[in-house]
Amino acid sequence: MSSNANTVLVTGGAGYIGSHACKMLANSGFTPVVVDNLSTGFDWAVQWGELEECDVRDGEKLSQIFKRHQPAAVMHFAAKSYVGESVEKPDIYYNNNVIGTMTLLDTMRDHGVPHLVFSSTCATYGIPETIPIDESHPQIPINPYGMSKFIAEQMMADYSRAYGPDYNLRFASLRYFNAAGGDPEAEIGEAHDPETHLIPLVLDVAAGRRDKIQIFGTDYETPDGTCIRDYIHVTDLAEAHVLALKYLQEGGENQFLNLGNNQGFSVREVIETTEKVIGRPIKIEEADRRAGDPAELVSGSTLAEEILGWRPVRADIGIQIEDAWRWHMKFFHHN
Ligand code: UFG
Repeated sequence: MSSNANTVLVTGGAGYIGSHACKMLANSGFTPVVVDNLSTGFDWAVQWGELEECDVRDGEKLSQIFKRHQPAAVMHFAAKSYVGESVEKPDIYYNNNVIGTMTLLDTMRDHGVPHLVFSSTCATYGIPETIPIDESHPQIPINPYGMSKFIAEQMMADYSRAYGPDYNLRFASLRYFNAAGGDPEAEIGEAHDPETHLIPLVLDVAAGRRDKIQIFGTDYETPDGTCIRDYIHVTDLAEAHVLALKYLQEGGENQFLNLGNNQGFSVREVIETTEKVIGRPIKIEEADRRAGDPAELVSGSTLAEEILGWRPVRADIGIQIEDAWRWHMKFFHHN
């Protein structure tokens, strides 16, 4: 089947990570086409490539889009991604993330599109048995969000084993730790509604849009009692997606790869760094633990570097906060 060698269909390309991937794709000589139902994404975030407003579960419409654009590959970001909400409304998560991925896989197969870069998560590991976490760590998700991504990974592996020799799916599943930061040129950035993530909420306090940040749990078994996470800059994530795509196009095998900085920061450290970077005090309130939060999630893997040649260049947490802040100021100034 003929395809446009440079065209990459990006589901969820109007969202936080997907839009940064579109910019990176465009800057790397690809033509992104965004497929997004705009349920949590924004049309203003689609600045590189056309927007096709479509839900990935709508197989017929999706098929028309494949016919029209003849993509050579797909990056799949479209998903629901709130851990807490997934516990209360698992139906929404299985529907969007599992049925959505399955519909996409069927459409890719029907149109002979062989390469997929998938947005997965460290939430597929569940409670870590060992820290740091590498790709061989058991996957026992503890919430429907993590489970839905885990099932999607299994589906990709099964589709990849089947349907040959006419169709051979190859994929890279990228398991991110905590995405942070924003486009260094502040053209796009993080905007969730409602916002639940630590860094944008701390920035809301710095900007005076919120009067304090609650620290969820101060009695964890960590050096300062607060949860530790591995924050990874969204443009470093975007870069990994483009490298994974090139790797697949050059004949690379299926991969499951962690994307993190192999370095953890506590909630208190994030708040203190923000105070330093922005030069404003952040008012805190110590609060109860949030359900479902593991004490520590830190990646321990050099696989993405070995296989893709990926090296995060904005690993510094201060740079991540600075980039997020620049965007935050611009976005909320206009909204
Ligand atoms: N936190 C606070 N106060 C807040 C918000 C968050 O103390 O107001 C804490 C959380 O308890 C957690 C840390 O800050 O310890 C980071 O929380 P986020 O909500 O920013 O991120 P999560 O670690 O919960 O979630 C991220 C991704 C998910 C992914 C998950 C994997 O957003 O999509 O990592 O565990 F599934």
